[in-house]
Amino acid sequence: MIRFAVLGYGFMGAGHGATLKKNPRAKVVAVIETNPEKLRSVTEGNIERSGADNLLEGVHLYKSLAEMQGKEQVDCLVVSLPTYQHREFTVQALQAGLHVVCEKPMALALRDCDAMIEAAEKHSRQLFVAQCIRFWPEYEALKRIVDSGELGKPISFLFRRVSAPPFWAGPQSWFADPQKSGGCVFDLHVHDVDFVHHLLGRPNSVFSQGIFNSRGGNEAVMTQYNFDSGVICCAEGSWIYPAGFKMAYTAVFENAKLEYDSNLSPSLSLTRKGATAVETMPVPPGDGYEHEFAYFIECLEAHTAPEKILPQSARQSIEIALAEVRSMKEKRVERL
Ligand SMILES: NC(=O)c1ccc[n+]([C@@H]2O[C@H](COP(=O)([O-])OP(=O)(O)OC[C@H]3O[C@@H](n4cnc5c(N)ncnc54)[C@H](O)[C@@H]3O)[C@@H](O)[C@H]2O)c1
Repeated sequence: MIRFAVLGYGFMGAGHGATLKKNPRAKVVAVIETNPEKLRSVTEGNIERSGADNLLEGVHLYKSLAEMQGKEQVDCLVVSLPTYQHREFTVQALQAGLHVVCEKPMALALRDCDAMIEAAEKHSRQLFVAQCIRFWPEYEALKRIVDSGELGKPISFLFRRVSAPPFWAGPQSWFADPQKSGGCVFDLHVHDVDFVHHLLGRPNSVFSQGIFNSRGGNEAVMTQYNFDSGVICCAEGSWIYPAGFKMAYTAVFENAKLEYDSNLSPSLSLTRKGATAVETMPVPPGDGYEHEFAYFIECLEAHTAPEKILPQSARQSIEIALAEVRSMKEKRVERL
């Protein structure tokens, strides 16, 4: 049984509380949240999270991480704070001897990622950056198919993650401040940056075009990732669609095409070369949040590092996202 404390009980913190409640090998013993309003109900965000009732029953509540220290037996802290606070509280928790699950994006600057990695190494604790798409069933299926070669050589990939503006946040919120959220590139598109990196490795260069608002915040990005293998790969991230949310991909192989659309049911389909019929592909139940926690709990119980997402790999994804921002601003191909 791994004992968790959740730091920041907003959309993701409450969602993680619900996810952990379903896992018999996890127990949330404490929640740390500065805003008491947030301990009532949390319903905002792109991806619906359910089962939020009675999550706080028997859970000890604190207003700060410092207030909790010395009072609880905790193995792992879930840092679901606004992005600009990830480094500070991840490092504090690692120094205090806790393992850490830190929400994506790891941080907005490489020096912050480095400080987090250094603290994990120095204090011999595990740091798991919650890039949930690496664990999302339809994306895991794609990774498995690419790795096995069962549909032939990969030819091209197109990833999309698009939504209406994060209207729930309001102009005063940390989301709207590019210094705090990193804008669409770091808040939304980073899921695909990280997945492309996980799937195909580090690109040799990127070329991005994007749209920035008057505060310098990125609102839309379209990136071409260049690989020595010659495989074609593009990803779109946007916060300026008129309505709704969608994550999707099209993957073309020598012998088939695999397509995913989060708004369709069934969501994953396969078209074999020359075939007229489209096959639907079953995926295991559960979402990426459930699978990422199940995986990390297994790692903690086995005293092994989370090889599927080592902090160094999450850091490299931030390096790629930063190259995309430079490419957008300088209007040129950025080498990596
Ligand atoms: N993996 C995903 O699919 C996904 C989805 C949404 C957000 N996120 C990430 O999760 C993180 C949190 O996003 P969110 O949407 O939950 O934000 P949010 O604003 O809904 O929640 C953050 C919470 O932290 C609290 N808080 C702020 N500072 C604190 C402090 N020092 N101590 C204790 N509590 C504090 C706030 O009061 C708030 O309740 C961000 O990094 C975001 O990018 C990930």
